[in-house]
Amino acid sequence: MRPERADDFAAIRALVAAAFDSDGEADLVEAIRASEQYIAEMSLIAEVGGEVVGHVMISRANLRSDGGDRPIVMLAPLAVEPSHQRAGIGSALVHAVTAVAGDRDEPLVVVEGDPAYYGRFGFEPAYEHGIEITVPDWAPREAGQVLRLAAYGASLTGLVVYPPAFDVFAEWAETPPPLRPKDGNRHVHRHDPIGRIDDFADVEIAGDAADDVGITPLEPELSHAIRSLCLERSICGF
Ligand SMILES: CC(C)(COP(=O)(O)OP(=O)(O)OC[C@H]1O[C@@H](n2cnc3c(N)ncnc32)[C@H](O)[C@@H]1OP(=O)(O)O)[C@@H](O)C(=O)NCCC(=O)NCCS
Repeated sequence: MRPERADDFAAIRALVAAAFDSDGEADLVEAIRASEQYIAEMSLIAEVGGEVVGHVMISRANLRSDGGDRPIVMLAPLAVEPSHQRAGIGSALVHAVTAVAGDRDEPLVVVEGDPAYYGRFGFEPAYEHGIEITVPDWAPREAGQVLRLAAYGASLTGLVVYPPAFDVFAEWAETPPPLRPKDGNRHVHRHDPIGRIDDFADVEIAGDAADDVGITPLEPELSHAIRSLCLERSICGF
């Protein structure tokens, strides 16, 4: 593992898009990289045999309280190339990048994601520590998490405010993609990176719905309900 370099950028874009089955997160990586919130030292890649197969970013956000805005850091996104998943690469990246954050005397790292995954690294529900993270309305409150580091102090409370680079996701968070009946093909969706969505529903969530043929949009309430179920059962990473 090492910090990313300019000659990695194309490979990073490809692996992030493949991992999420979407260009959205790849766009996010590039938007963060182009912003003032980018921290090169905490944008790491994992290489196997000279190939870039994993990527993680920690970048700046703000913690807003009555006392004003205080800079903090957030982890997003994390991606491992599908054929290299479940080999410990994602875990190694999270351990490595949060260790760098600790070495830089960052007090905490926030993340939005599956508690079943991030909990193993010591992330805890942020609200338990007075830190509010606005998650999409289909996600459980526990999806907003915080890792408290050595420099943490209990006075660090408030609302996490994302920088403009994250606006790329605002519309998607408000209006989840529609669902569609199964078409017999196996799709690995970004909300089901480990392929267990088949367990519970006779539908699957379409990623880039507008580009797909044969989409049958369902009511937003149903879409929300399935996403909530999916997250409750810890089968989604988002
Ligand atoms: C999530 C992701 C980064 C994990 O990377 P990885 O290298 O496969 O993870 P590791 O090998 O370190 O850990 C695998 C473990 O995590 C679990 N896991 C993987 N993805 C998970 C998810 N989305 N939710 C819950 N658990 C998950 C696996 O069950 C496995 O546990 P086990 O070996 O005890 O069964 C990778 O699957 C990925 O890129 N997914 C698509 C993008 C994504 O969802 N990113 C995270 C959101 S920001």
